[in-house]
Amino acid sequence: MSYENAVEAADLIKSKYPHTIKTAVVLGSGLGAFADELQNAVKLPYEQIPHFSRSTVAGHAGQLVLGELSGVHVAVQQGRFHYYEGYEMHQVMFPARVFGRMGVENLILTNAAGSVDPEMKPGSLMLITDHMNCMGVNPLRGKNDERYGARFPDMTQVYDRDLQKIADEEATAIAHERFEKGRDAERTDFLHRGIYCALSGPTYETPSEVRMYRLLGANALGMSTVPEAIAARHQGIKVLGISCITNLAAGMTGENINHDEVMETGARVADIFKELLRRIIARL
Ligand code: HPA
Repeated sequence: MSYENAVEAADLIKSKYPHTIKTAVVLGSGLGAFADELQNAVKLPYEQIPHFSRSTVAGHAGQLVLGELSGVHVAVQQGRFHYYEGYEMHQVMFPARVFGRMGVENLILTNAAGSVDPEMKPGSLMLITDHMNCMGVNPLRGKNDERYGARFPDMTQVYDRDLQKIADEEATAIAHERFEKGRDAERTDFLHRGIYCALSGPTYETPSEVRMYRLLGANALGMSTVPEAIAARHQGIKVLGISCITNLAAGMTGENINHDEVMETGARVADIFKELLRRIIARL
């Protein structure tokens, strides 16, 4: 996909929603309900956006929703393109390219992930502090287009510190409010921090692989986010990453892992997740 393709898609989106958008959000598996929060929303199914692919996995609607949240214009990607679906990396990162051409400054990437830490339980959230790309491929492989960014992009601080601070503060405020109201006391630690390790999927890991990634320093395992984060940083877009912990990784409980459980946990945390996102966006 060329630079001109991304410009064409950005121009179409701007013609349908002619407001300045500083922040874009990518919603992970089971987290799509957040898009319903937008006011005065314009919904663009992916097939209406030039050069966009279509989303094939259950739980991903496949549209870009543009609208207002707390008076701020945002673009929300309801459904993303996963490498495991068979898309090429240039297709997976294309929306991030388009956001860049739209002038987006902040990209909030969310996902469903499995925890390798027994203390980080399903239903909690993890602020991504760094990632490990174990997908076996780098999305920027190939000819570099300098209009996006440098040939050898720095990845020292992929996940923006200021955005992390905002997320931390808002999570603390939510926990405090809920705690004071006597509800959800156990959720005061609902926002963890950790390293997200991206794998190609579509299989979940074996228990041995889970032990390996844990030894290597991963806190959560997933099948997305890293390509988009890399593409965003290549273009100088600030990135915030939030994982919804949907399950303990393979071999950590007596149970097998299934996609339905992943989706159910996403729906269960939707309320607190939406509130956190809303509060973060209001401060950007
Ligand atoms: N592993 C990989 N990806 C995932 C998992 C997991 O356990 N849960 C949700 N996405």
